[in-house]
Amino acid sequence: MNRSLSPSAIDIAAPAIVQHAGVKEWVARIAELTKPDRIHWCDGSQAEYDRLCEEMVAAGTLRKLNPKLRPNSYLAWSDPTDVARMEDRTFICSESKEDAGPTNNWTDPAEMRGTLHTLFDGCMRGRTMYVVPFSMGPLGSHIAQIGIEITDSPYVAVSMKVMTRMTSKVWEILGKNGEFVPCIHSLGAPLEAGQKDVPWPCNKDQKYIVHFPETREIWSFGSGYGGNALLGKKCLALRIASAMGRDQGWLAEHMLILGVTSPEGKKSYVTAAFPSACGKTNFAMLVPPAAFTGWKVTTIGDDIAWIKPCKDGQLYAINPEAGFFGVAPGTSTKSNPNCMASLKENVIFTNVALTPEGDVWWEGMTDTPPEKLLDWQGQPWTPEIGKKEGRKAAHPNSRFTVPASQCPAIDPEWENPQGVPISAFVFGGRRSNTMPLVTEAFSWTDGVYLAATMGSETTAAATGKVGVVRRDPFAMLPFCGYNMSDYFGHWLKLGRSVSKRPHIFCVNWFRTDANGKFVWPGFGDNMRVLKWIVERCEGKARASETAIGWVPDFADLEWKGLEGFTQEKFDSITTISHDEWHAELAAHDELFATLKTHLPRELSLRRELIHLSLAA
Ligand code: GTP
Ligand code: SPV
Ligand code: MN
Repeated sequence: MNRSLSPSAIDIAAPAIVQHAGVKEWVARIAELTKPDRIHWCDGSQAEYDRLCEEMVAAGTLRKLNPKLRPNSYLAWSDPTDVARMEDRTFICSESKEDAGPTNNWTDPAEMRGTLHTLFDGCMRGRTMYVVPFSMGPLGSHIAQIGIEITDSPYVAVSMKVMTRMTSKVWEILGKNGEFVPCIHSLGAPLEAGQKDVPWPCNKDQKYIVHFPETREIWSFGSGYGGNALLGKKCLALRIASAMGRDQGWLAEHMLILGVTSPEGKKSYVTAAFPSACGKTNFAMLVPPAAFTGWKVTTIGDDIAWIKPCKDGQLYAINPEAGFFGVAPGTSTKSNPNCMASLKENVIFTNVALTPEGDVWWEGMTDTPPEKLLDWQGQPWTPEIGKKEGRKAAHPNSRFTVPASQCPAIDPEWENPQGVPISAFVFGGRRSNTMPLVTEAFSWTDGVYLAATMGSETTAAATGKVGVVRRDPFAMLPFCGYNMSDYFGHWLKLGRSVSKRPHIFCVNWFRTDANGKFVWPGFGDNMRVLKWIVERCEGKARASETAIGWVPDFADLEWKGLEGFTQEKFDSITTISHDEWHAELAAHDELFATLKTHLPRELSLRRELIHLSLAA
């Protein structure tokens, strides 16, 4: 339903199903400020999705892919300046600076509201304002959160249909006075009368991704890409939800959730936190090597987990999302066959290359690239050009947006509103040295220490330098909506409150040899480590003690089907070098110096113990 409105008529514009006076008043207020030409209240239907996609094809934002090769799928090429999350433009505006903590950008909320008011004044001129009702988590579940995103981007509106439960049923759940998280998004690119639009509007000069944790509000300006714009994902389900979790006794985490079934039919659930572009989607969809007869891995989520303690003393996790917004480069039928099968149809690709046949391609999809392509900026690309100019066909942070239900490995429990009981938490960074293949923490507190001090090389998922080791506690550095030290304290407290604590592990798939090549084969072979992890939780697998935790010896892992992987190679990715670990502890000290104000004492004590054990 498209209606041209003057702001004063907005109340009348809401469909009859919207009974919530607060929502109507809020939408009217934002429309008055942003001054769109039209308002469209989204119903989340397939017909609406199809129509918006067609309109974007006509506008040049999307290209329809060849329906014979990739049915009902589209490709978007973004503005070259709008390709990833922008951490330096992301703000946590709590009342006090201390609540945001030293790892977040903070601005006084009153000052920020002033800035936003100026930016948003008239920012939707010439555009349609979409009102997107969505639920993070299964509809109506006690664990779900309702959000409403106001956006002037149809690309965001259709992406939200894939990534969340976007439906007009949300209005029924909200009723007259239900709670929702207001999310306001603008590309910051108003159109003057007669001005021609561009395929990917955004604001090149001003970008703001702002969170008010106390009032649970999100305001995003200037970017149309991923986590900057699909506000249900990082902004709501991580930054705002982590603050809710602190207040209400649960956790919102940057974690995949998987199910693993043994040949005896025993099923366990494992969550894993790896920083952005460090392997969550791949681990969540793992296909065990052929030699692992009877082992099966199923997918519950690939990016976010909400975790709550239950009366039975266990922690239960749900995936609040409904789709995958995954990294394209490196994804192939060899590395992730479940993912490739998920991408057969109904996909929105962003910033990958286009083949002459009207299909997509990205680095690593096939061993040999096609002879010619249009790259992610629409420029002609050949393997020769790529080699000569060092130009990639797909942007390193190019992505696919696809419904989770299309994954052949999706777990039957993936929409269970109770969640699944967690046996193990896995943490892992991208480290070319120092961190061994796998370690099990001695205790919950030691596990919190390992997760809190995790380091990882930066990736293309956020703008800025790639490949620099930085501390990324719990893979939450960019996503924790409050003081990181308080967050560590929250983890310690939650651990004390449950009787069946999951075991905590650290992994590293990314150690390299003298030539800079990954030593560990990774992907499906990560099953060798996963098997050891679930068997440790059951008290079945063997381990040796080290200064940082329990580790397997070569003989403790299953090597069937990977005969070339020698003890020597194993040693090269599992040694705990004293020199490297002294440098590592120095990096922990630096982190703890930054976080000192609220840092739980347990963590500094644990640091001393590791130091002493390394010296012994
Ligand atoms: P976000 O969506 O940004 O949160 O990323 P993610 O953690 O889901 O990362 P993803 O699984 O998409 O992997 C990112 C990149 O790492 C891809 O290029 C993968 O091919 C590569 N990768 C994933 N798993 C492995 C592994 O086990 N070994 C190696 N060497 N590379 C991997
Ligand atoms: C990440 O960066 O961790 C992502 C992609 O999952 S985005 O949604 O853009 O944040
Ligand atoms: Mn992520």
